[in-house]
Amino acid sequence: MKKILITGGAGFIGSHVVRLFVNKYPHYEIFNLDKLTYAGNLDNLQDMENKPNYHFIKADIVEGEKILALFKEHRFDGVIHLAAESHVDRSIESPMEFIFTNVVGTVNLLNAARVIWKDTENNRFYHISTDEVYGSLGETGAFTETTPYDPHSPYSAAKASSDHFVRAYHDTFKLPTVISNCSNNYGPNQFPEKLLPLFIHNIKNKKNLPVYGQGINVRDWLYVEDHAAAIDLIFHKGKTGETYNIGGNNEWKNIDLIKKLIEIMDRKLGRSNGESLALITYVTDRAGHDLRYAIDATKLKTELGWEPQIKFTEGFEKTVDWYLENEIWLQRIVSGEYRRSE
Ligand code: NAD
Ligand code: DAU
Repeated sequence: MKKILITGGAGFIGSHVVRLFVNKYPHYEIFNLDKLTYAGNLDNLQDMENKPNYHFIKADIVEGEKILALFKEHRFDGVIHLAAESHVDRSIESPMEFIFTNVVGTVNLLNAARVIWKDTENNRFYHISTDEVYGSLGETGAFTETTPYDPHSPYSAAKASSDHFVRAYHDTFKLPTVISNCSNNYGPNQFPEKLLPLFIHNIKNKKNLPVYGQGINVRDWLYVEDHAAAIDLIFHKGKTGETYNIGGNNEWKNIDLIKKLIEIMDRKLGRSNGESLALITYVTDRAGHDLRYAIDATKLKTELGWEPQIKFTEGFEKTVDWYLENEIWLQRIVSGEYRRSE
């Protein structure tokens, strides 16, 4: 049996990756290691709790000795590393946590794998990263795997640093690593500090929608299950030492995306068309706000055959429905109750 360690499995993307692996690979033992920070929520994985091939470990990747002891105890064959501090605005408020978790935590995992893995033929260390490491684009062009790194926020600087350490451990110690850099994910279970779940919550409750700057920044949006499918493919078929970009080929200017969201929500909430437009409030721009991200995912398509399966119109409706139907999930976060059930 293969033992796979998934870090950050209680978070947004991690919970979808855990679910995919537990259900699709009953012959693997899946270990979800998560510190359960404010962003970790075991409510996301209630349906996994009784699966015989699912195990939860509460641990902090910053604690190197504990991580090494866990590797010695369980002898994981593979690692899919998602644990991170992930919110750009929080990284501007307090950068240190991002350096500890995203950089030191990643290096602790690399060190533990290096100690345990001798014959590395059947091992893999897969580091999940972001397109934000490449910096900001102008009106045209897209990031490829060879675009030079140019991070601007403490979050993206820490993720860029972790990517460099992963490559360094591959080049120096022959650790069997692979990296992917993905654009903005959307879908169920995203913490309501991020644009879409926050705005869905605010529209529903008739609260202001704080649009940074003029709302002209552009992001590429990918449904979270398409990202999870790409992670599955790259984990199993990606070439050691390589990097793969993952994107939705689905660019939206923030203000256009917000207006689309308002149109859908006014319809679903039985409000008159455009009623919630009045909630839009332009606020001070995010410091160092990257203007535009776009991904060229040609390598992943030509080498591994991956393409997004969920059309944006379908994924967007599904996402709004999920948040409207899972009011309890949201209320437990808003009240803080989700952290009392750890
Ligand atoms: P998230 O914030 O929803 O979840 C992060 C998880 O990591 C949480 O469960 C949290 O408890 C856990 N964690 C944080 N610090 C930890 C520590 N010190 N030890 C152990 N666990 C810890 O994040 P997400 O949006 O699901 O992102 C997951 C990964 O994907 C991150 O590495 C992020 O950089 C990357 N990524 C995210 C996106 C996106 O759009 N959300 C896009 C591309 C890449
Ligand atoms: O590109 C991938 C990245 O996408 C991931 O690496 C990050 O972990 C993830 O958080 C996300 O980063 P962004 O900064 O792009 O996501 P966020 O949801 O915070 O913001 C999306 C856009 O919306 C961005 O241009 C800022 C803007 N925004 C965001 C919030 C929370 C607003 O205008 N108002 C808001 O209140």
